Amino acid sequence: MLRVGVLGVGGISGTHIPAWKRIKEAELCALCDIRPEQMEAYVGLPHYTDAKEMLDKENLDILDICLPTYLHAEYAAFAMERGIHVICEKPISLHKKDAARLYETAAKNRVRFMVAQVLRFWPEYLYLKDAYDSGRYGKLLSGVMGRLGTRPGWSWDNWMTDEKRSGLVPFDLHIHDVDFMVYAFGRPNKSTAFRSKCETQDYLHAVYEYDDFFISAEASWYASPYPFQASFRFQFERAVIANEAGRLMVYEKDGKTFQAGADEQQSGTINLPQTDGYYNEIRYFTDCVLAGRDADIVKQEELETVLDLLTAL
Ligand SMILES: NC(=O)c1ccc[n+]([C@@H]2O[C@H](COP(=O)([O-])OP(=O)(O)OC[C@H]3O[C@@H](n4cnc5c(N)ncnc54)[C@H](O)[C@@H]3O)[C@@H](O)[C@H]2O)c1
Repeated sequence: MLRVGVLGVGGISGTHIPAWKRIKEAELCALCDIRPEQMEAYVGLPHYTDAKEMLDKENLDILDICLPTYLHAEYAAFAMERGIHVICEKPISLHKKDAARLYETAAKNRVRFMVAQVLRFWPEYLYLKDAYDSGRYGKLLSGVMGRLGTRPGWSWDNWMTDEKRSGLVPFDLHIHDVDFMVYAFGRPNKSTAFRSKCETQDYLHAVYEYDDFFISAEASWYASPYPFQASFRFQFERAVIANEAGRLMVYEKDGKTFQAGADEQQSGTINLPQTDGYYNEIRYFTDCVLAGRDADIVKQEELETVLDLLTAL
């Protein structure tokens, strides 16, 4: 049984903790957050307010880091130097040099390390990648991706709205779409971005150019309570694949329409796994640890490319 600890019990840990509870080869043994009240809802396991103390006492196999972005690299290195496997929330860091340092630390200490870039494990996005890889709808012509929402006001100590600690919209939100692009299509040849940023808002619109297609992507933290939405729409020679308003649709050129999980007479269905990306990434990382193999769905070079692209925005 793998012993797991979660470090940082804020917003995103609410998706990781239930996922760990579903992994039968792992036992969630301890939680750590500097705010004890964050852990009150989780009874029956030790709570720590100091990461070092948790690592000293709990003999963990895996540390799951859900800390604010600017702390990722420091704590990932600290745990791996003690021989603990690490899964860490995105981004790996705001600084590219940390990527090589962390992968070197993992190799030197013979532990697995993975950054939880969740879209690489998200069924709708994997469906799109498979359509591209298989070429079943012909060549890809264009894509639009989006991640829109309101300025976050919920983070601990407001770290998210502090550029030095979060990197703002590029590194917090837009990173998801850029990471998926790099994973699915490789490094773009060129990127052009427009950004409107002031004290209360941050909006960007970027265009990424590849040999035969381009992808435009927008991301926002509006000052208004604009409801969060994540979407994409990709144009192939023989179909449009769209993930909008929370449902994946395929509109084929001959007029047929398919909807993921739909049960309507006029549309077919897409056989899409009904699993969530957070569970999938944690399941995959656990399998890598158990098998003693690198978690190479997420690669160092790709993470570095993503940081290059985001830094240029
Ligand atoms: N994959 C996704 O979809 C997704 C979504 C949201 C956030 N994230 C990432 O998850 C990370 C955390 O974001 P969040 O929204 O959960 O932030 P958050 O502010 O809600 O939670 C962070 C927690 O860390 C705690 N903390 C701060 N310093 C600590 C320390 N030294 N030791 C122990 N605990 C400490 C805080 O008390 C807080 O509870 C960020 O890097 C963010 O980019 C990913």
